[in-house]
Amino acid sequence: MNKKGTKGKLITIEGIEGVGKTSNVNFIAKYVQNAGYQVIVTREPGGTPVAEAIRGIILSDFDEQMYGETELLLLYAGRLQHVENVIKPALDKGQWVVCDRFTDATYAYQGAGRGVAIEKIDDLYRWTLGDFKPDWTILLDAPVDLAFERILKLRDLDRIEREKKGFFERIRNQYLVMAKRHPERYRVVDASQSLEDVQKVISDIMKEIIE
Ligand code: TMP
Repeated sequence: MNKKGTKGKLITIEGIEGVGKTSNVNFIAKYVQNAGYQVIVTREPGGTPVAEAIRGIILSDFDEQMYGETELLLLYAGRLQHVENVIKPALDKGQWVVCDRFTDATYAYQGAGRGVAIEKIDDLYRWTLGDFKPDWTILLDAPVDLAFERILKLRDLDRIEREKKGFFERIRNQYLVMAKRHPERYRVVDASQSLEDVQKVISDIMKEIIE
């Protein structure tokens, strides 16, 4: 519990690469802090020493094919560590948690992107997390071409980012489907606007979340 006598809330930020997740994760954390709550910023894959080591494997290049199912198992091994050792203890203390990607990324990337059966993802979810889920999910949405134009200016691409355009189109569509399916926790932001305009929209969403 925090000073206001409430448990913390988990806000997850989702979207394809290049939509500005990192800058906006920090913007959201600052907003929560300014509202008088303690906040931690974390990410997936990663967020604990074990889960960060697993992240290294997930993003590395190997001289063999890595199956979508292998990614799924690795992601959930890291996620269990992250939820039990970082996210739940913070929420119990009344801290808010802002997480750069979470469970929905697996439905989007491994499910829609790689074609792993949704039942397998559901099973692992239930087995490791039960009914634990984010309180709010902010989806930063932008066309794939625009998003990739942005990241190609900034850095080299990793193993997942080097997939073809169709992979990211499926991921983007899956995110939009999930947003429609869970309107109670999803808020969609048009991330093709300028960062300033995106953050105006996010501020309105944060007002709603915090009140
Ligand atoms: P990041 O670049 O946003 O930190 O994410 C690392 C990569 O991991 C990104 O390409 C998306 C991918 N990913 C999945 O494929 N499935 C997942 O469940 C998560 C959390 C990330």
